[in-house]
Amino acid sequence: MREGLAQVLLDWYDDNARVMPWRVGPADRARGQRPDPYRIWLSEIMLQQTTVAAVRDYFVRFTNRWPRVEDLAAAEDAEVMGAWAGLGYYARARNLLRCARVVAEELDGRFPDTEAELLKLPGIGPYTAAAVAAIAFDRPAAVVDGNVERVMSRLRLIETPLPDAKPAIRQAAETLTPIERPGDYAQAVMDLGATICTPRNPSCMLCPWRSPCAAREAGVAETLPRKAPK
Ligand code: ADE
Repeated sequence: MREGLAQVLLDWYDDNARVMPWRVGPADRARGQRPDPYRIWLSEIMLQQTTVAAVRDYFVRFTNRWPRVEDLAAAEDAEVMGAWAGLGYYARARNLLRCARVVAEELDGRFPDTEAELLKLPGIGPYTAAAVAAIAFDRPAAVVDGNVERVMSRLRLIETPLPDAKPAIRQAAETLTPIERPGDYAQAVMDLGATICTPRNPSCMLCPWRSPCAAREAGVAETLPRKAPK
């Protein structure tokens, strides 16, 4: 049953994954390509509080100019801050450089492959640690962002308002995370939340999880997740 749900989503992802410059798609994988931890880390830092559409060009410019973590680590602070201009949240750019320098100078240019070790690096919180562990290293880490909160609260009909619902949502996400292809699975849930299981007017008719979705069954998908009044 558990494998069943993840597998259905992975099948959907194989046909519907959004193309992103840092992603290794099913066809690339078939040719033996693997995700580059540096590129996955950079994309996830850029994607914090910023949309995929806004990040795309910045990501391409950064990786053309600094193709490896050692190149970024060797850049002048002002160059990197200049290249970041427009993405906002400048503390992210400062931590980005600090993290690149730790990885380049203390870790031989290799990102750690576990959530616990990733969490020790500057600018890497629980979300980013899980995303890098899952996507770059195929570890079965539960990646929970706003998209995933929406998908899980609907699939499992979690009606407790946020933020109190967070432990139940995390539990649901952990239980569903598969051992097979956890990196693709993490990206699949995020894509599902971004394209099908949207905040308004979710496209339930197109959803690979429409039949197990408890909120759709109850007719309340669009009302979830609930939010506590401020
Ligand atoms: N949002 C943040 N990271 C993402 C990813 N890897 N795929 C899709 N959406 C995302």
